[in-house]
Amino acid sequence: MAKLSKLAISGKGGVGKTTLAALLAHIYAEQGRKVIAIDADPAGGLAEALGLPPEVTAQVTPIAEMGDLIYERTGARPGTAGGFFTLNPRVDDIPERFSALHRGIRFLRLGTVRGGGAGCICPESALLKALVTHLLLYRDEMLILDMEAGVEHLGRATAQAVDAFLVVVEPGQRSMSTAERVRQLAAEIGITRVYAVGNKVRDASDRLFIQAHSPVPVLGHLSANPELTEADLHGQGVFDAAPRAVAEARAIAEALERLAEV
Ligand SMILES: Nc1ncnc2c1ncn2[C@@H]1O[C@H](COP(=O)(O)OP(=O)(O)O)[C@@H](O)[C@H]1O
Ligand SMILES: [Mg+2]
Repeated sequence: MAKLSKLAISGKGGVGKTTLAALLAHIYAEQGRKVIAIDADPAGGLAEALGLPPEVTAQVTPIAEMGDLIYERTGARPGTAGGFFTLNPRVDDIPERFSALHRGIRFLRLGTVRGGGAGCICPESALLKALVTHLLLYRDEMLILDMEAGVEHLGRATAQAVDAFLVVVEPGQRSMSTAERVRQLAAEIGITRVYAVGNKVRDASDRLFIQAHSPVPVLGHLSANPELTEADLHGQGVFDAAPRAVAEARAIAEALERLAEV
């Protein structure tokens, strides 16, 4: 595999997906790579974790909420399932036009598809899927996709473009069940490079638990870290506020590079 460039991050709600996505985005940007960080989780929060100034975040409207754009590109309005609309809308200008660029990271929000979820047969989900396909197949940046616990917006056509699918887990059975479900969903569309990242690890026994219970190979860990709790309390970006987490995330990025070499 050539240089690793497309990462998707999934896992149970609250497990630390957004935290990991934001740390990795800054680490790659610091290495001088062009980075696009995509908030694909309806729960949101990536802008805050990246430390984007509120006035920058305010400029970035979630694509799923752009009714006029969706109509212009697909021929149908959001919320109109069952009608006619194009399944291959033009999307190549969307990343530049509807994102914000801050500290070397381009930030884009997909937003929530109402009624039927991201898999629904509706114009907004057709546009999002086309957009994610475009980002994965035709752009050369380091892409970091902060997702919910599933494979929404990805499909068979794009599966091979995902260099690594990271599932964040924590010491606990529930996040492992979610990881197993995510692994199965990923396998169904042909994504096999699925790895776990342990988070909120307190000690060696937590590490052992994760190692023993993870359904996929474990790439690394982030410790339970009061700096991260504080960062969220104060609405600060994790990269500046949590140096220890940054160091641990660098080790995860290095483990990813080693995967890319084999
Ligand atoms: N290693 C950690 N130590 C302490 N708190 C953490 C850690 N990782 C994440 N958190 C906190 O847990 C909460 C959920 O993290 P987040 O990254 O938003 O999860 P997700 O995106 O999976 O829902 C946030 O308040 C975050 O600050
Ligand atoms: Mg999140």
